[in-house]
Amino acid sequence: MRTAVSSSSPQTASVSEGRPLPLPELQLGPVHIGFPVVQAALSGYSDQAMRLVARRLGASYTLCEVVLDQFVLQRSKKARRLWAQVDEEEHPVGGQLMGADPAQFAQAAVELVRAGFDVVDINFGCPVKKVLGRCRGGYHLGQPEVALEIVARVRDAVPPQVPVTVKMRRGIDDSAESEEKFFRILDGAFALGVAAVTVHGRTVKQGYEGAASWEFLRRVKQHVGRRTVLGSGDLFTPQACLEMLRTTGVDGVTVARGAIGNPWIFQQVRALARGEPLPPPPSVHEQRRVIEEHFRLAARLYGPKQACRQMRKHCIKYSKLHPRSEEVRNAFVALSRLEDLPAILERYYAEDLPGRYPPPGPEKNNGRQRG
Ligand SMILES: Cc1cc2nc3c(=O)[nH]c(=O)nc-3n(C[C@H](O)[C@H](O)[C@H](O)COP(=O)(O)O)c2cc1C
Repeated sequence: MRTAVSSSSPQTASVSEGRPLPLPELQLGPVHIGFPVVQAALSGYSDQAMRLVARRLGASYTLCEVVLDQFVLQRSKKARRLWAQVDEEEHPVGGQLMGADPAQFAQAAVELVRAGFDVVDINFGCPVKKVLGRCRGGYHLGQPEVALEIVARVRDAVPPQVPVTVKMRRGIDDSAESEEKFFRILDGAFALGVAAVTVHGRTVKQGYEGAASWEFLRRVKQHVGRRTVLGSGDLFTPQACLEMLRTTGVDGVTVARGAIGNPWIFQQVRALARGEPLPPPPSVHEQRRVIEEHFRLAARLYGPKQACRQMRKHCIKYSKLHPRSEEVRNAFVALSRLEDLPAILERYYAEDLPGRYPPPGPEKNNGRQRG
């Protein structure tokens, strides 16, 4: 068992099974979340379909993939179909915004609330080159004045009962100047009334290379005291979620890559927190049930053609849990029409074999382009 937080994060378990871990319920301002393990914003993934699947399997809160403020303000039917979809069953659900201009940010935040999102999250973390080049996402970590202007405008624009939260990386890079700016934004944002800050323990420069620093998360939580902090980075197993909560003291954790193709992680972590043994990985029939449900939700959102394109990447991740993962992966890679799905399911998911846990770490290159 890990006894102290190190700068690297665990890929494997060290939270003991069989002993309940008393976890305070998570609260974002006036919005009650409950169980403190939630689903992160995942660009290209956390659409309504993924959010509903996660929720039905135990996620207490989910975040929509980041949306550009300009895109929100376009108000076109097509654009709204992608981001403005909030189902009754989803609450509480957060919408996340990215942009460069404080005034535009605020207008877009109002639209998110109108669309039904319960929380407005501000993205100060995205490390994608094109995003940084347009002074968005993680770029703001280098300019605290503009970052705080955005926070102030958004906080002013949305109704007081709607919490505003911020998502940050731990800085632009490892320099002392970068860290100083991080804490300036963190303190300033809380002073302006944000309900919580989520910290991803990697720098913008780091992208997705190397480990996320959980030690940094521990320092942030210690620094802010009773204010709400959520942690992010290297949460690939249910044990790791509890380990981050326990060793860093953060109030909640956000599962990101670890939830893609493995929404069962949310019910598994709930079982561990109750002191129960780790449940077996989902059987092949359970996997089939959830894949079919995910497809149905995606088809409702996009129509059959686009749903198929969108689902392929999810299914490639789902395949990791299958005992014949390589073959199943190849079958999903080749899937181009929704009509071909039943044949794949019939071929690989007809027999109810035991499933497998996915590998407890990131895939090479996974996520380098996003977030
Ligand atoms: C494909 C992908 C898309 C992401 N999209 C977003 C996003 O839209 N908004 C956001 O705040 N973070 C985004 N992130 C960052 C994750 O929410 C999370 O902070 C990061 O992946 C670290 O957690 P992990 O190591 O457990 O995956 C994204 C990450 C990945 C891999």
